[in-house]
Amino acid sequence: MKVLEKHLKPYLKESKAKEAYALEADLYCNESFYSLENDVVFQNNWQLVGHIDQLSNTGDQLVCEIAELPIVVVRNENNELKAFHNVCRHRAGPVATENGNSKVLRCKYHGWTYSLDGELNSAPEMGSTPNFDVCQYHLPQVEISEWQGFIFVSINKPAVPLEKMLSGITDNIKPINLSEMTFSHREEYIIECNWKVYMDNYLEGYHIPHIHPELNQLIDYRNYETEVKAWYSYQYSKLTEHNNEVDNFYGKGTAHYYCIFPNLMLNILPGRLQTNQIIPITKNKTKVVFDYFYTELESEETQKLIAQDKTFSHVVQKEDINICEQVQKGLNSGSYVPGRLCVKRELGVLHYQNLIRKSFRDAIKTKHIKVSKT
Ligand code: FES
Ligand SMILES: [Fe+2]
Repeated sequence: MKVLEKHLKPYLKESKAKEAYALEADLYCNESFYSLENDVVFQNNWQLVGHIDQLSNTGDQLVCEIAELPIVVVRNENNELKAFHNVCRHRAGPVATENGNSKVLRCKYHGWTYSLDGELNSAPEMGSTPNFDVCQYHLPQVEISEWQGFIFVSINKPAVPLEKMLSGITDNIKPINLSEMTFSHREEYIIECNWKVYMDNYLEGYHIPHIHPELNQLIDYRNYETEVKAWYSYQYSKLTEHNNEVDNFYGKGTAHYYCIFPNLMLNILPGRLQTNQIIPITKNKTKVVFDYFYTELESEETQKLIAQDKTFSHVVQKEDINICEQVQKGLNSGSYVPGRLCVKRELGVLHYQNLIRKSFRDAIKTKHIKVSKT
């Protein structure tokens, strides 16, 4: 009997706006479902792995993990970006262990050496091994694409090209230009909740007046809007003008909040981009990675903005962490049944949760889900 599939199926029906319900607690708490997500969510979608500035020269290498799979990204001799499974064809050692620059990819275990195109060039002392030909070995490639200076990788063939997935963003945020932004610094947090609890929380402004008193002063909650596209949702609000009561150090303009399926957010303010990646560690533990970019880093004005941005973002983050960890306890309690969603304020949550449901449905359809037997 297909136990897992039978257990999952009732949770996966698309929720319609007129009768919108949140996801089942099981989808946040069940270990088996959590393990499936690496396959059905993370390996089938684009994942941000770095910035073009990290790979500007031939031989530059960037190591990362996607859904626990080791990956290496390189710039080859033809000035192209390539991404490979960082797994040696000999006995699975890594062909790169840290970011850096080299003419080759050399596995430290026994010295097998690959070109920047992933072809095996040499394998020490293998000459006398019968039927062994270096030409027959190649590192398996994965999909790679670039958008506005950001590099994305997809382990399996993604549903849509990256450009199509993100279409509309570049024009919508003008005159802000993401490709002109320079990396400033990284902040990381570990949160005791399932990664989707954090995603859900990001996807609505409904909680802002209740959880974020400081942020609530900077945005216009009454005119806070949400729009949904095929693969992302967009929340936005005008920033409050700086005045005697409100210290709006971000300046004039709009706060743009993009949530790109499955785990990337782009928080864009005048002259500033914060990328926010949500990485599952265990079913109840999540890493949140913020990278900060600014139009320029040198001026006194920007240095002041960076300092204020750090302090302010930390306050907001602490508030989000606190509520997310409490929500996880609620989901774990066994007492929760999916609640109704607020159509006016939680359209982004509904859209996102339907994409999660669809990912599992598609995996069942294509028999991607390996079912356990009783
Ligand atoms: S595992 Fe790479 S050389 Fe042996
Ligand atoms: Fe929040």
